[in-house]
Amino acid sequence: MKGIVLAGGSGTRLSPMTIPVSKQLLPVGDKPMIYYPLSVLMLAGVRDILLISRRSDLPLFQRLLGDGSQLGIRIGYAAQDAPNGIAEALIIGAGHIGEDPVALVLGDNIFHGTAFQFVLEEHARDVQGCVLFGYRVKDPHRHGVAEVDEQGRLVSLEEKPHRPRSNRAVTGLYFYDNDAVDIAKNLRPSPRGELEITDVNRGYLERGRARLVDLGRGFAWLDTGTPESLMQAGLYVRALEERQGVRIACIEEVALRKGYIDSESCYRLGAAMAGSAYGRYVMEVAQELTG
Ligand code: DAU
Repeated sequence: MKGIVLAGGSGTRLSPMTIPVSKQLLPVGDKPMIYYPLSVLMLAGVRDILLISRRSDLPLFQRLLGDGSQLGIRIGYAAQDAPNGIAEALIIGAGHIGEDPVALVLGDNIFHGTAFQFVLEEHARDVQGCVLFGYRVKDPHRHGVAEVDEQGRLVSLEEKPHRPRSNRAVTGLYFYDNDAVDIAKNLRPSPRGELEITDVNRGYLERGRARLVDLGRGFAWLDTGTPESLMQAGLYVRALEERQGVRIACIEEVALRKGYIDSESCYRLGAAMAGSAYGRYVMEVAQELTG
């Protein structure tokens, strides 16, 4: 399965922070936001990833992540010249996707939960149609909204409806079979002028090929859209890390635990950042898992 992280957009609600730097490079806790969605793809077992962002921001992402080889993965880069909609990522990424299924994740989505790796691995295996991940929220009108019937079958999908039919938001992680590229290429822009990802998902739903996996109460899906929610996400991450002494979305640790790199390489990555608690954590993990 190929992966795409979409990290463009204008981030206007976070101005002036997003004038010089992309939203997805802002810190959440002790690491750049992009580490969270990137680690989701890595946990799902996806190792060939395309990062799409504004052309002017691409060198910053490249400086941070390089070609991914230090993490035992491959990261390529592509530009989205204007925020024409999330579904455009499937068109920009068509060459990268080739004949494969694809996992698309939004660069500002933060997930955390028990056994998430197993949930991801299970659903990334042999994707037929599309797999969406639902999460109960108080304010569904701000998101894509999914309605399911009594048997748990998906019956409708709407983008930011005035009157939501349920409290189930569709999160920014999507697993698609290879049809997604054609569906995206045949979309018309929505009234707000964007190629909507919800329209891709609806394309699958109309063919009876969309599934929704509910992320239960034990999960956290955090918002980073406003200065307040960004700060709250950082506090959530810090509280967990301080209490448990483990780090969420430490990409070096994920790479090591998944067997993408060995402990020596992991240690070296940590040692290069030994001036920070994050770097020292990477070194400790590498030492613990030497074997
Ligand atoms: O976060 C989940 C939600 O993401 C879903 O529930 C919605 O169905 C989906 O439309 C989307 O809603 P948002 O209101 O969060 O979309 P937004 O326009 O804010 O874009 C989400 C991220 O994707 C943001 O970090 C910017 C990036 N983006 C967005 C667009 C439209 C791009 O990189 N390029 C784009 O063209």
